[in-house]
Amino acid sequence: MKKILKLVTLGILILGLVFAIGCGGDKAATGGDEGAATDGGNESKVYKVGTDAAYAPFESVSPSGEIEGFDIDVVSAIAEEEGIEVEFINTAWDGIIASLVQSKNDILVSALTITEERKQEVDFSDPYFESTNYIAVPKDSGINSLADLEGKTVSVQQGTTGDIALTEFLGENYDGIKRFKGTPEAFLELKNGKVDAAVADSGVVMEYVKNNPDQNLKYVVDEKFPKENYGIAVRKGDAELLNKINSGLQKIQENGKYDQIYEKWFGAKPE
Ligand code: ARG
Repeated sequence: MKKILKLVTLGILILGLVFAIGCGGDKAATGGDEGAATDGGNESKVYKVGTDAAYAPFESVSPSGEIEGFDIDVVSAIAEEEGIEVEFINTAWDGIIASLVQSKNDILVSALTITEERKQEVDFSDPYFESTNYIAVPKDSGINSLADLEGKTVSVQQGTTGDIALTEFLGENYDGIKRFKGTPEAFLELKNGKVDAAVADSGVVMEYVKNNPDQNLKYVVDEKFPKENYGIAVRKGDAELLNKINSGLQKIQENGKYDQIYEKWFGAKPE
């Protein structure tokens, strides 16, 4: 009896599927009005989430071409809690804020530090991750602090808080700072021995040092780099969306989802 019920259910499902596909085909044949549902109501809106996916473990492109990482899981979990749909768009760092302001994206998640300057341009969610900048150097390097970078060359992703801190400590006119569009290029410069050090967010430097044992690197921690907080950004005044993001963030922090994601990408959380 049960078996028959199952078969009947399956039959109905298949019929439904065939019918749905058939309808889709009809629409396409009559010129297609795919966009109509999205344009009309907000129910089926897919929020575009911009991310510079070259910053593992926060965001990167997997070997199969998928955008993945801690940030991606956090925003996906928030979206699930809030019943909103998101789509991740690989977006160049140097235009990432502009992409939001110009509505090419609706949300940014990119290990983006909340700063007073950026707050002039975008609205940030509550902080979701603590960070600072670390220095990657060869193990046998004499560099053991930020001050030791004086007289040395250092690579960094342009426009990041690492760039801002280095510029501040070494001076506006210091010509040993080599700025790159992406963090991978900054690390490559270190690998090729063209610079003495590279600076990036703590989580990213630790991941890089760990994943590249052949390069014999270590990371240097210096308290002179300020403590930072990452935030998820939305367009200024997009309060409805921001409220959803903050509400979802709170929910995943309370229901253990955030900790699960943290463990997946960083291992057990230090107490
Ligand atoms: N946290 C730093 C900043 O906000 C670096 C972020 C870089 N993110 C990235 N996906 N490349 O400036």
